[in-house]
Parts: sequence; structure tokens; C-alpha cells
Amino acid sequence: MSLVLNDLHKRMLDGGLGEPVRQGMELTVELAKFWGADTLIPVRSVHVVGAGVKTARRAGMKYIRWVADQEAKLRTLCTLNPSATDQTGIDIGLTPETVSQQEEITSSFKRMGAIECHTCTPYLIGNLPRYGEHLAWGESSAVLYANSVLGARTNREGAPSALASALTGLTAGYGMHLKENRRASIHIHIDYPLENVTDFACAGYYLAKHYPDALPVFTGFPENSPAYALKAVCASLGSSGSVSMFHAVGITPEAPTLEAAAGGRRIDSVKMGRKEKEETLQFLGRTNESNDVDCVFIGCPHLDFEEIAGLTEALKGRKVKSDVSLWLFAAHSIWSTCERSGLTKALKDSGALLVSGTCCVSTMLSEIIASRGFKSAATNSAKVAHYIPSTWSLKTHYGTTRDCIEAAVTGKWRV
Ligand code: F3S
Repeated sequence: MSLVLNDLHKRMLDGGLGEPVRQGMELTVELAKFWGADTLIPVRSVHVVGAGVKTARRAGMKYIRWVADQEAKLRTLCTLNPSATDQTGIDIGLTPETVSQQEEITSSFKRMGAIECHTCTPYLIGNLPRYGEHLAWGESSAVLYANSVLGARTNREGAPSALASALTGLTAGYGMHLKENRRASIHIHIDYPLENVTDFACAGYYLAKHYPDALPVFTGFPENSPAYALKAVCASLGSSGSVSMFHAVGITPEAPTLEAAAGGRRIDSVKMGRKEKEETLQFLGRTNESNDVDCVFIGCPHLDFEEIAGLTEALKGRKVKSDVSLWLFAAHSIWSTCERSGLTKALKDSGALLVSGTCCVSTMLSEIIASRGFKSAATNSAKVAHYIPSTWSLKTHYGTTRDCIEAAVTGKWRV
């Protein structure tokens, strides 16, 4: 079947709505042809990766500025993934050049009409898709959350294709937009107690490491699993491999049963028990042999209210060690609501740094390592533990939130 274009599509493609829209349409149509899509689908929202210096780079910055200079306006709700800088102006250790480049990228997106939220959890702050809605989202953890927890439909968009969708309001109808591609291909039964976020995240990371191209269906996640635990699964699953969706029976709207998740097909089953979980924990923490810790990163994906309330309790009356940095990441609007609710006082009193709109992976971490002298990190995020040691010279421990809080207070890992 060939791609069907309506009059509006053709007008966009002919440049009738301006050059940026023409370019966006051209890219969307080329993607549709490449993937064999026969339709272009209107999207309810776009979430853009490439909104930070690290991913946009100089070429992306120039292109985004050019689009804004053409006075192009986005045709759909568009939220932005984390940037390089803290949105409240905290000096996290970046060079002035990075700060000014980030200001330029953010201001260009704002001129087009994007929402300056700079978070990887747009679903927590006002970009909340409904079941069955079509989206064009980047950011693997958000894509997985939209597909798997909310039952919306999106592929893992790159920065150019997401911007193209924001300009046209359209995406190519292939991949996760089609029901037949959303059927599970492997069943993973989680056979160990799920007591904390780390237990959930290990399940996601194990799957991504061993079955990187699969679309899994999990059993064993309690139906009342908290949203923050599911977003941890999304981040760990998305940190390696190409997984865009999982089913969790009783949680994913399309997975009331194992059979429904698999679309009635017979699929292989594997069990993940304590042994596999311990192996995953050890693998993620393998890079750091030092007991000393000088930086602790919590909030990947960005924290929700429940997690912040838990951290407040954990840090009440305690002090982060003077030569350790504890960085907590969340969207700016989440922090400001917590501030008004009195939830941030214990955190600030402890010495924790409340960082808005960025994270240790989205920022220019090499500049921060150079300026702050970080040598040994700890995190409760499988995604951070996956990326940091493989991208930067920062060895990283991986463990529970409690492990990380103790490391921040003592400067030692699990002693
Ligand atoms: Fe979000 Fe940064 Fe983690 S973008 S998912 S906090 S790596």
C-alpha cells in the first residue's frame, strides 16, 4: 500500500505553510515511506529530546534557532526533555558557554510555542496522554511509560523527527502506533519480592540486557505497584536495547491477562529470581571498587511527590557529609509545589541540592566532573548506573535509595 496524503498534507509538503513545516513534512513522509506506513497520524502531543546542549550540540542549536527565526509555530502540545542547566539558576559547575547555549536552545523552543518544562516526566506535570492517544515522544523512559503504563501509542522519536511532528502535528503510522506491533514476544515472571524501586528497576534492566529487542510481558508486578516504581522500570528498560514498550499483567491497559498481552500467540516464558536480581545489581555497580563516595544522584527519572515525601522523611534531622554532594532531580513545577507544601525544608536543611530541569546524564557532566572534582558516584537509578561509567570517567555504585542516603551522609558505600 502506498502512503495516502490529504490536501493539508500536500500543502505542507509543497511549502504552503512555510519552509520549516515543509522540512518537517518531508522528514515525516520519508520516515513513513521507509517504514512502509500508509498513513500519517495526527498526534496529541510531542515530547522533544534534543532540548539540551548535550544532545542538540551546536548544529542542532543553529537549526532550532533558524526554525524559530522563521516564526514557525508548533501545531501541537510540545514539552521539552531535560536541559543542561538548572532552571532556578543554581551554579552546578557548567561553563558560561554551555549556560548561554542552553539559554539559546530553550528560548528558541519557547518562541515556537513549546512548554519550558525540561523534564523527562511530562506525564507528571501536565502532558498526560490518555489510553489509545497517538504521540510523538522522545526520551526512552517517557516513551515506555506512555506505551506501557498509560496505554498511549508512540515510537521512540529522535530529536529531528519529534520536532518535525511538533511542526506538522503528524507522525508516520508504523511501529508502536499499530496494534499488531504491540503484542508481547516474551514472558518474564518476576519471582522475587519487590520491596523497593531498585527491585523493580532490576527487572527492567535484566530484560533489556538479555532480550534487547523483545517486547516483554511481566507477571509478578503487584497490580497496585506505585507509579514511581513503574517509571523506574521504564528507565531501566530503556537504558539499553531498543524496547519501546512492556506489558505488565493487571497494570498495562492492554494486558488484563497474559494471553491478551501476547495477542493470543504462544510465547516463551523465563523466570527472573533472586539470583538474576543479585547479578543485575552487581553488574550495574561493577565499575566502582572504592568505598568512598563524593556524589550521589537520585531522581532518574525525575522525582514525583511520593518519592520526594519519602526522601524528606529519610533525611529529616540528618546532614549530608560536608565533602559529599547529594543531587536530587525533579521538574521545576514539582519542586515549587513541594516548596509551598513544606516538603523541601528537611531536604535543604540536610544539605541536599534540589536540582530542576536537568539531570546528571542530560547535563554536560564532563564539565561538572572537572569543576567539582567528582571521582566516585552512587545512584539508585539503573539508567544512571548504566550511562555514567560508560560515558564519563565517573565510577558508580548502584543500590537502593536507602543505600544512597547512607552514602550521602557517611561518604561511604554500604559500610
Ligand atoms: Fe530523566 Fe535524565 Fe534519567 S532525562 S530518565 S533523569 S537520565
